[in-house]
Amino acid sequence: MSSDMTRRVFLGTVGATALAASTGQAVAADADTPKSGSLKILGIACSPRPGKTTAAAVKVALDAAEAVGPAIETELVELAGLNIPVFDPAAPGSADFEKVAAKLTDPKVAGILVGTPVYFGSMSSLCKAFLDRCIALRKDNFALANKVAGVVAVGGMRNGGQELTIQTVQAALLAQEMILVGDGRPTAHRGATLWNQGDDISKDEIGLSTARNLGRRVAEVALALRGPA
Ligand SMILES: Cc1cc2nc3c(=O)[nH]c(=O)nc-3n(C[C@H](O)[C@H](O)[C@H](O)COP(=O)(O)O)c2cc1C
Repeated sequence: MSSDMTRRVFLGTVGATALAASTGQAVAADADTPKSGSLKILGIACSPRPGKTTAAAVKVALDAAEAVGPAIETELVELAGLNIPVFDPAAPGSADFEKVAAKLTDPKVAGILVGTPVYFGSMSSLCKAFLDRCIALRKDNFALANKVAGVVAVGGMRNGGQELTIQTVQAALLAQEMILVGDGRPTAHRGATLWNQGDDISKDEIGLSTARNLGRRVAEVALALRGPA
């Protein structure tokens, strides 16, 4: 949805499909849903370790988003290995950030999943650098406004600060006028909260269910906001 969306259009599209979304019913089952691959959910994994548990958890959420219906396509972007340094307002340029920003602002992208490892009860420094750099998109007429956002946090402890971490990421996304959602029913809390046990999340059934419910919820709300094709 473009950032110049009017309040009237917003209310109209949401009103038409809000009931289906709120009941967890697959919005994509509606005959009026957008065409195959017409709406994209982007996952951003903010661990400095490529292909590890944060990326795996975001992928679980993306797969659940894609399962909502043929209108949804997904892409995982890993920040690991990219040069996204601490944001310095005096030297704001970062070629690698620009590449990620181009993906984020693609009009086809209607939803974004931000995944971070828990580092001492908060997001990774890479995630913070990335979110701070997104101030450029805020200055660019709120380019992320009205895109749906959900947050994934992976910690080495079952209760290592995942919820607190999610809230710190959400604070930055709220400042972008994004539409935040948590994990949908039946778990229905802040977002995806996963427990890494030996670089493995596959045994964390509860955490995996929060990731699936988050991905599904982001896709359902994105579809509801987009409205009929
Ligand atoms: C600097 C540092 C701080 C961490 N602090 C926490 C913490 O506060 N709580 C927690 O549950 N896990 C903590 N961990 C563990 C990581 O969150 C966990 O290993 C996570 O799965 C790493 O993500 P990755 O596999 O994508 O790299 C910490 C790890 C590091 C390196």
